[in-house]
This record gives sequence, structure tokens and C-alpha cells, in this order.
Amino acid sequence: MTKTYKVTIHHRQENRIQTIEVPEDQYILATAEKQAVEPPFSCRNGACTTCAVRVLEGKLYQPEAMGLSPELQRKGYALLCVSYPRSDLVVETQDEDEVYELQFGRYFGRGKVRFGIPIEDD
Ligand code: FES
Repeated sequence: MTKTYKVTIHHRQENRIQTIEVPEDQYILATAEKQAVEPPFSCRNGACTTCAVRVLEGKLYQPEAMGLSPELQRKGYALLCVSYPRSDLVVETQDEDEVYELQFGRYFGRGKVRFGIPIEDD
């Protein structure tokens, strides 16, 4: 039998807290959308980090979260689009671009890095 867990999402930018029921074999983001709860997202496939949250309580499973470094996963960040619940959860949305900047730095993709090679200042 499939277990279902309660996932509480604190959407900090909109000051909204919503709780949804998510089966253990369903992605949290997809289930949230079906229940008319829309946390921020973009790619839906674990690459862009738009849907990143901080996990405040509980456990989830995110084997396809390729956009999130193992270090940030250990620090308690997760990508809702590719996360399955493994217990009841409480998560909160990140600050704007928080995870992106933690991984790539503030200047990546903004003119300081081209084709993946840092530009030397000489
Ligand atoms: S929506 Fe892009 S990583 Fe989740």
C-alpha cells in the first residue's frame, strides 16, 4: 500500500502556508500543482533550482536532483520538482536565487564567466 505524507509548504515571498497530502511515489511539486498549490518552479526536472526549499522538518528522497550539489543536499536543501516525501515534512521557499548563488556564486552567468571558463582579469 502506498503511504501518503503531509507536506507543509511555507511560501515565504507570499507569506502563505499550505499543507498538502503527497503519496510517497509522487513528486511533491506535481502533487502540489494538482492541489492548486504552486510553489515557484521552472524546469520541473531537477536542473534549475527555482523550486529549491529548505527542509525544516522531515525526510525526503531526491535521487534525480542533479541541479543541487550533495553539499547543499546535506545542508537541508531540496528540489521539490524531483523530491518524494519519506515522512511528514515542513519546508520553506528559499530567498530569491539563494541556492543558485550558493552553488555558482553571484556572478556566474552575468558576464564574468563565458562558456564555463572564468575570464582572467589581466
Ligand atoms: S523546477 Fe527546476 S529544479 Fe525544480
